[in-house]
Amino acid sequence: MNTPIYILGIESSCDDTSAAVLCDAKVLSNVVANQEVHSKYGGVVPELASRAHQQNIVPVVQQALEQANITKEQLSGIAFTRGPGLMGSLLVGTSFAKSLALGLDIPLLDVNHMQAHILAHFIKEEAAKTPPFPFICLTISGGHTQIVKVTNYFEMKILGETIDDAVGEAFDKSAKILGLPYPGGPFIDQYAKLGNPKAYKFTKPKVGDLDFSFSGLKTGILYFIQKQVRLNPDFIKENLHDICASIQFTIVAILMEKLKNAVKQTGIKHIAIAGGVSANSAIRNSLQEAEKHLGWTTYIPKFEYTTDNAAMIAITGHLKYINNDYAAISVTAKARLKVTE
Ligand code: KG4
Ligand code: ZN
Repeated sequence: MNTPIYILGIESSCDDTSAAVLCDAKVLSNVVANQEVHSKYGGVVPELASRAHQQNIVPVVQQALEQANITKEQLSGIAFTRGPGLMGSLLVGTSFAKSLALGLDIPLLDVNHMQAHILAHFIKEEAAKTPPFPFICLTISGGHTQIVKVTNYFEMKILGETIDDAVGEAFDKSAKILGLPYPGGPFIDQYAKLGNPKAYKFTKPKVGDLDFSFSGLKTGILYFIQKQVRLNPDFIKENLHDICASIQFTIVAILMEKLKNAVKQTGIKHIAIAGGVSANSAIRNSLQEAEKHLGWTTYIPKFEYTTDNAAMIAITGHLKYINNDYAAISVTAKARLKVTE
């Protein structure tokens, strides 16, 4: 029998400190400490995020090992997010992972956060479908919006991406206009369930076939709301469900239109979604509909692997570990890193 491979994953790219342990690509633990401190500022404050990571990292890693019921001496390798992300946040995870790998004398595995969102689909789960190569992945998060052609675990090509805001920002900034807390995406999703998606019409941006633009939509929403509030100061309160449903409907329609263009261009009908916004119920429903009506096979991640988490870092580390693709101890964090790097 082969010796089991235990990988510890560490994620600290933005405002969640997370650690996970995988055994042979199966999740034994996946601990996420969210940082509440940012919500009152309406966005992530980099300096506060870095400080909170420093406080969280040791207890979060300890908890992940305890829940997995293993000791650190049993670990085969340590995976960490090298980038992209906030430099001060990345540095905490990077230096912690380097010291631990050095102390335990085990391989260090550097992980690209954007690849990890996509490779979360390869976490071994009972009853989970794994996409076959090649597949198309729509990566939608607070920092990115990309359509990626995935030819192999580490062979990816960006087919299209946003030219300005990410889709998560479109959700969060719209939520801010409506006075909802940060991050507002999940609130919009929740209120949208009770509203009419056709109540208000917002103009969709005109950009290239596979590219995205969300800054115009955000401005359109802002002007619309300001105008309505001038006419009726209670407009938001009285129509919150319909406003959220209409915003979400517009955003999801944009995402689906781009995916259809990608299928048309590539002929690939295996479609995955990844990233925090892939937790959105409307995009999940639309993809399920596409299975029935468009003949696509779709891959929708489990909720816990959509927003930032260390299980996705650990699975990427696992795939690198079995390829003997280790990082040098001199590796440094990189705030800007493309999915292809
Ligand atoms: O992947 P992620 O955790 O962090 C980044 O790498 O950016 O994504 C966070 C984003 C936020 O913009 C958040 O509002 C959005 O994902 N999000 C959602 C939902 N859950 C999280 N957006 C819409 N609907 C949701 N249910
Ligand atoms: Zn992310």
